[in-house]
Formats: sequence, structure tokens, C-alpha cells
Amino acid sequence: MKLLVTGGAGFIGSAVVRLAVRQGFEVVNLDALTYAACLDNVADVAGDPAYAFEHADIRDRAALDRILARHRPDAVMHLAAESHVDRSIDGPGAFIDTNVTGTYTLLQAVRQYWEAAGRPEGFRFHHVSTDEVYGSLGPSGFFTEETPYAPNSPYSASKAASDHLVRAWHETYGLPVVMTNCSNNYGPYHFPEKLVPVVILRALAGAPIPVYGTGENVRDWLYVEDHADALLTVLRRGTLGRSYNIGGENEARNIDLVRRICAILDDLRPASAPHDRLITFVADRPGHDLRYAIDPGRIRTELGWRPSVTLDEGLRRTVRWYLDNPAWWQALQNRAGVGQRLGISGSAA
Ligand SMILES: NC(=O)c1ccc[n+]([C@@H]2O[C@H](COP(=O)([O-])OP(=O)(O)OC[C@H]3O[C@@H](n4cnc5c(N)ncnc54)[C@H](O)[C@@H]3O)[C@@H](O)[C@H]2O)c1
Repeated sequence: MKLLVTGGAGFIGSAVVRLAVRQGFEVVNLDALTYAACLDNVADVAGDPAYAFEHADIRDRAALDRILARHRPDAVMHLAAESHVDRSIDGPGAFIDTNVTGTYTLLQAVRQYWEAAGRPEGFRFHHVSTDEVYGSLGPSGFFTEETPYAPNSPYSASKAASDHLVRAWHETYGLPVVMTNCSNNYGPYHFPEKLVPVVILRALAGAPIPVYGTGENVRDWLYVEDHADALLTVLRRGTLGRSYNIGGENEARNIDLVRRICAILDDLRPASAPHDRLITFVADRPGHDLRYAIDPGRIRTELGWRPSVTLDEGLRRTVRWYLDNPAWWQALQNRAGVGQRLGISGSAA
């Protein structure tokens, strides 16, 4: 089976590419190589005859048509996106362009390809989205697949729009889609502007570790390799037209997550004083959702899938990976905006 994976040079996409090649799929990785991409993420499989790379933008219809005709995939897994909430506050336009218009362009190209091939039954378009489309929870309750959409950031609004497009292409044109909405991922190859790597790298540098607001915000943390496994499970066995929430069953307040990372570093790379002395509370993100939590009932009962990595184990593996791979993250720290506070006040220009 041949997969076309969009965004396969990013954090989650590259985990999907690595796992899919290991599981015996042929994989075409289509990526525009934005600031968030790194081809080193797929270095493990780059020499494998089952792997191919296409440098292309999902907004470029002619390129998509060419790539689909050349590789003739049996499924498309769509992960390419602008993904950083803080950047979406400063510059929402790129999020609308890629996440909304890009998804529309990809859907149209895939639809034409699938129709021209005689609407093969086994074909799949798998759209990868986020639990942020559901908005914010209070201290209790969980997101189910029936929770109404209520996105609060330009990022989550653009992802919500893309989810609606995918659903409509299924209902209107019969495109065989499956959809997933997952919680916050963490793990190896996480771009150094996101919370977990920021904490690790600031702590290693002996620099202040920024925590937004009071650190009370709760996220459900999903180890990225578990997520990749869940995505391939849904691709193979998910019901057409259905969406599946994917969680890590690991809820934590940001401040507790940061303290746990500091404690792991105290153990693996002791400094002269505990790393949590570096924690610094900074101005909150505008529109910062208080809590996300996934009800994993559907994927568990229908597909028998559960996460395999606990938060403590996943964080330990992640910290070790950053300690063992300084060349990877040092090269990315020079990219635009990395290490700066973003998303305080967006320009409307
Ligand atoms: N990271 C998370 O915690 C999380 C949680 C839920 C859902 N998601 C979703 O999962 C997907 C992957 O997230 P990620 O964290 O790996 O993102 P990422 O930012 O690490 O990677 C995105 C990749 O998409 C590529 N890309 C961006 N714009 C493109 C375009 N116009 N054409 C082609 N390629 C383009 C980038 O070059 C990059 O390689 C996204 O759709 C995101 O919304 C992420």
C-alpha cells in the first residue's frame, strides 16, 4: 500500500513516515519545507527504496496533480499545516492560506485523482486535526466526537474550517475520508518553539523557563510515536466518514509538566541547583484555553486502540533524546522567531 503523507518533514508527519516505512508501507513525503520542517527527521528512512520525497506546497494545484499522477497513492494522510498557536496570533494569514485554502486545494486534487481512477473503494483521505477545534473545557468533562466546535485561536479556527471542508467533501462528493482530532503531542524531533522542548532547552542553558499565566492550563499529553500508531490504525480500520479523538490519557497542568521535566533533568543532567528554580511566570497568551481533555471511548471500543506510553516514561525518553541529539536542535534554534516570545499582540496589517 502506498501512502502520500503531507507535512512528513514536520514533527508528527515524520513520526508517521518513519513508522509507516517500518511497517512495510511505501511512503511519499510531500512537504513545502517551511521554517518548521527538518529533513533530518526522516533521515532514518531516507535511503529506503520504499521512501520518496516531493518538495511541494499543498496550495499548488499543478504540483499536486503531477505528484498524484506520478506516485498513484492508495491513501493520503494530510498533516501539512501551520501549527503554532502563538504564530497564528501574530500572523493569521499564513494559517488561513495553508490550513484552509491548502486543504481545499488538496481535497480538489485528490478528488479528481480518485474519480479519474474509477473511485477505488479502498482509497482513503485521512485528515489529521486537533482537539483545539472544540474550544476550552472547565475543570471537568471531556471532548467527544460530538462536542460542538468552538475554536478560540486563529490556528484552531483554521483547523476547524479544514475539518468542515473534509467532512463536506465526503458528504457531497463521496470522497472516502477518515478524520482524527488529537491532543497535545510531545516526543523526539519536536520543533524547539513548542512547550516541552522550550522547557528542556532553557533548563539546559540555565535560562529562565517561561510559563504562561499561572501555569494552570491543562493539556492531555500524547507521545508522538503513540499518535503515529493510532493514525495508522485509523487509516487501516476506521469507518468512512467518521472522526476519532486520540488522547494520551495523561492530563497535566502546564506547571506540573514543567516541574516534571525539571525533575527528570535534575536526575539525568544535574546542575548546581534544581532546574525548577528557573521557572518564570510570564504574560498569558491571549485567548489561552484553560483545559483540553479527550474522551477516548470511540477509538478504544471501535478500534481497540490505547496509548502505550505514560507521561513519566514519555517525558524521560524525550529528555534523553534531546540530551543525545544537540546537533539536531542547535541547527533549528537560528530559525526565524525561535526563542522569542511570540503571540502577545498580533498586527492587523
Ligand atoms: N503538535 C501537536 O501537538 C498537534 C496536536 C494536534 C494536531 N496537530 C496537527 O497535526 C499536524 C502536524 O502537526 P506538527 O506538530 O507535526 O506540525 P509541524 O509544524 O511540526 O509540521 C508541519 C509540516 O507541514 C509542512 N507544511 C506547512 N505548510 C505547508 C504547505 N503549504 N504545503 C506543504 N507542506 C507544508 C511544514 O513544512 C512542516 O514540515 C497538523 O495538521 C497539526 O494541526 C498537531
